[in-house]
Amino acid sequence: MSLQSGLPLFLGQLIRSPQKISAIAPSSVALARRMAMELPQDRSGPVVELGAGTGKITQALLESGVTPKDLHAFELNEEFVDRLHTSFPDIHVHHNKAQDMGQLGLNNVRAVVSGLPFLSMPGSIQIAILRASFRAMGPDGVYIQFTYGPKSPVQERVAKALALTYTKSETIWANLPPARVYSFRRSMV
Ligand SMILES: C[S@@+](CC[C@H](N)C(=O)[O-])C[C@H]1O[C@@H](n2cnc3c(N)ncnc32)[C@H](O)[C@@H]1O
Repeated sequence: MSLQSGLPLFLGQLIRSPQKISAIAPSSVALARRMAMELPQDRSGPVVELGAGTGKITQALLESGVTPKDLHAFELNEEFVDRLHTSFPDIHVHHNKAQDMGQLGLNNVRAVVSGLPFLSMPGSIQIAILRASFRAMGPDGVYIQFTYGPKSPVQERVAKALALTYTKSETIWANLPPARVYSFRRSMV
């Protein structure tokens, strides 16, 4: 199945659950590749993708060298889960909430790459997802998240509570809407 044909599926699911999807189109190839560029090269281990949708970022992660057996994609929407299974039969697809990631007992995770609508999530959910992510990665992990807004997608009080710092990419204008990639790390305290 071609990845191009993900657009009608995405738009159909957007009409059904606009709050959970929170994007007007799947990520562009440019944004997906920019996300993949943030993967740390000095670490090995599994890569976790949260909110994989129709698989645009999944594809970029695989093209960047992540092996299918090392890739764990979490997705809430059942139609997207079916699509991910069909398009990427060799990766691990989890029909689970991102905040339940800890229940799988993944550890030594190299990075968590998120296409979740983080800005529209309450602080309590942001904390649950970030805590589970850093528990799986260890203190040197990186949580990679795109956002369309001008500010950090992680609420300030959440970043403070978890001692997070971030770096921010240039604006990816070739995305609809233009987006930026934030990489969050735990500061050493
Ligand atoms: C903005 S779309 C991004 C899709 C895809 N990663 C992309 O970049 O094109 C957000 C995705 O996150 C999924 N999602 C929303 N809340 C979630 C949650 N709590 N756990 C897992 N997936 C979630 C939605 O179903 C949707 O597929």
